[in-house]
Amino acid sequence: MITNLQDTVTLHNGVKMPKFGLGVYKVEDGSEVINSIKYAVKAGYRAIDTAAFYKNEDGVGQAIKEIDIPREDLFITTKVWNDNQGYEETLAAFEKSLKKLNLDYVDLYLVHWPVKGKYKETWKALEKIYREGRAKAIGVCNFHIHHLEDLLEEAEICPMVNQVELHPYLSQVELRAYCASKDIKVEAWSPLGRGRLLDDSKLAELAKKHNKTVAQIILRWDLQSDIITIPKSTKEHRIIENATIYDFELTDADMQVIDSLNRNERTGADPDNFDF
Ligand SMILES: NC(=O)c1ccc[n+]([C@@H]2O[C@H](COP(=O)([O-])OP(=O)(O)OC[C@H]3O[C@@H](n4cnc5c(N)ncnc54)[C@H](OP(=O)(O)O)[C@@H]3O)[C@@H](O)[C@H]2O)c1
Repeated sequence: MITNLQDTVTLHNGVKMPKFGLGVYKVEDGSEVINSIKYAVKAGYRAIDTAAFYKNEDGVGQAIKEIDIPREDLFITTKVWNDNQGYEETLAAFEKSLKKLNLDYVDLYLVHWPVKGKYKETWKALEKIYREGRAKAIGVCNFHIHHLEDLLEEAEICPMVNQVELHPYLSQVELRAYCASKDIKVEAWSPLGRGRLLDDSKLAELAKKHNKTVAQIILRWDLQSDIITIPKSTKEHRIIENATIYDFELTDADMQVIDSLNRNERTGADPDNFDF
């Protein structure tokens, strides 16, 4: 059922994760990230997606302190960056993130990229952090099927989430089916293709039909496709716009039109070929 912004999905360990949240990549630390989170929380968002790499965990922590929402009602995700992968390094990186966020635990801790030769050791550190209760859930980002298969050969805990680039031009059909078979929830990063999809003529037609914006059409497609989504904006009117998707429904035919837009086109790096 899709009813409101605070709808959750249940991860395979029983943790409830909001299906919709705010991304804060490329949002400056300090007032910019603090204000974005305040606008979002005021609009009803409860999930925030940051990362050590974004260099704004301090500001995210400050925002959490300033907003009047009980900690247990928030869902905070952060990630271990590539330079810090490996067992001991990840444990140390987690401590740093937690300190910056000024939290006792995060809701979701993710491996940011599948760094070759490292991600299995990194995963062991995440399993330890999870067992200690300092991350309520753990997962990965940017894992192809073969990365997941490789990880699962040794993992004691199956990732609860795989956060990947996903939008109508890169709909990740096979990966979604594989993740569903393992009960790994798929979360979309760059759900708007960083703005690139907003000029698409077919999406514009659907937007006109439903009296919505293209961004709203895409984000509603995410929800109706069981994809967790975390659009980023620093502007209050867009933060509100992106969340105003609970008052209409895409038909099966609309969904098929959006599904047919896939071009396997990435805005970011391919997880099999990245140099950072
Ligand atoms: N795990 C990973 O490797 C990874 C990689 C990339 C991103 N992420 C996460 O995913 C989140 C979202 O992805 P993203 O930030 O790359 O891209 P995105 O959410 O697809 O797009 C963000 C861009 O679209 C603009 N925008 C947002 N809403 C809009 C609207 N309604 N109308 C017009 N323009 C709009 C934003 O500009 P304004 O801010 O000016 O509104 C920004 O330039 C990130 O913030 C991050 O948390 C994770």
